[in-house]
Amino acid sequence: MKHVLSVIGTGYLGATHAACMSSLGFTVIGVDTDEVKIGQLSRGELPFYEPGLDELLRTEVASGRLTFTTDFSAVADADVHFVCVGTPQKKGSLAADLTYVEGAVSAIAPYLKPGSLVVGKSTVPVGTASRLREQLLKTSPQADLAWNPEFLREGFAVEDTLRPNRLVVGVTSDRAEEILKEVYEPVLALGTPWIRADLPTSELVKVAANSFLATKISFINAMAEVCEAAGGDVTVLAQAIGYDPRIGNKFLQAGIGFGGGCLPKDIRAFMARAEELGAKQALEFLREIDAINLRARQRVIDLVRAELKEDLTGLKIAIWGAAFKPESDDVRDSPALDIAAQLATAGAIVTVHDPKAMENAKKRFPTLTFSATAKECVAGADLVLHLTEWREYRDIDPKEIKSLVKSPIIIDGRNALNRDLWTASGWKFHALGRAN
Ligand code: UDX
Repeated sequence: MKHVLSVIGTGYLGATHAACMSSLGFTVIGVDTDEVKIGQLSRGELPFYEPGLDELLRTEVASGRLTFTTDFSAVADADVHFVCVGTPQKKGSLAADLTYVEGAVSAIAPYLKPGSLVVGKSTVPVGTASRLREQLLKTSPQADLAWNPEFLREGFAVEDTLRPNRLVVGVTSDRAEEILKEVYEPVLALGTPWIRADLPTSELVKVAANSFLATKISFINAMAEVCEAAGGDVTVLAQAIGYDPRIGNKFLQAGIGFGGGCLPKDIRAFMARAEELGAKQALEFLREIDAINLRARQRVIDLVRAELKEDLTGLKIAIWGAAFKPESDDVRDSPALDIAAQLATAGAIVTVHDPKAMENAKKRFPTLTFSATAKECVAGADLVLHLTEWREYRDIDPKEIKSLVKSPIIIDGRNALNRDLWTASGWKFHALGRAN
């Protein structure tokens, strides 16, 4: 049986999932309450930057298989419903805000036909899926609910959806697993590992994975702090420990740390949930992971002060990068933008450039100054900060831009620039975790 799919919530996750499932040949109905977003998506326009997804969306909308609407009753045509709405951090708390997930499930409940499967993909605190399933069965006993966490990385969203390194499904019946196997058949055919779990384990897999990744980054940033104090070089250290296959060389890039819409909020929500469950102590270490991560931002600001002077009033600082990572226009909890804003608050004249994230950065911090090009950004600068490692910045010739700045000082907040090249070109070069 060819399933018809609905995708509730057409943000990063939902828009990607909808376009990718359509590309696998399914009829997909995307639903969101945001009329502007639905208007854009219906015209085949992607409301955010994600390599390859713009073209895929255009093709799939043109094929007629993929449609978008704000009308929830449209899901009545589908039998498998993916819930992809956001679970942001609650204001004034570490916990996740489940309003949208709960709202999405109750909004589709009246339209579920017999045999329908609701599949949660949003990252939720453990226990949410079981609770939602019980609620759903009360009003819609003809349906079932499963959980299917999503591990996609921004910048690689299409690749990660169509060729994931595993598929995890939390189910309470063989039938639910069978439906999900039918939906993911083309992905499974690639040899993708399939993991069947119970509902709580499937929810935990996601936050455990993100906690592990956050821990790896904060671990190397802690080593960076020690390297600085001891006169070592964290980039050499990371390379050396990374050769041990038990450690691995990925996610050991020291710098200003992690940001984005997932890692920071997920580790905080995980701690909050563990506390509710009486397992607070087990995740105490994540508090330290968060603290190390935020400290990296402060260390850059301290370095700027040490290099220029304590009072930054009127000093001109050029910042390369606003996105939380390259190949993304996402500025949610971006370490780069946070540093920019803090320096501006301290009185510096901050000019920011980013190849893709400038519009979003402007919306968040309209008082910062933005430059159309990386070169224009550094004009007259007392110091340059490299905070998001876009390829464009690595390709810049330090010799060529030296004449543009007031003083040739650069801090590489991502350990991605070629130090020898910059110093040979007459720049004073600092990087986190590398004692000069
Ligand atoms: C992350 C997870 O990787 C993904 O599996 C999950 O589904 C969502 O959260 P994403 O937020 O897209 O994905 O970003 P990721 O590539 O994990 O990077 C997170 C942050 O860590 C970025 O700010 C990045 O700059 C930083 N980072 C990453 C480092 O500072 N050092 C590293 O070595 C790697």
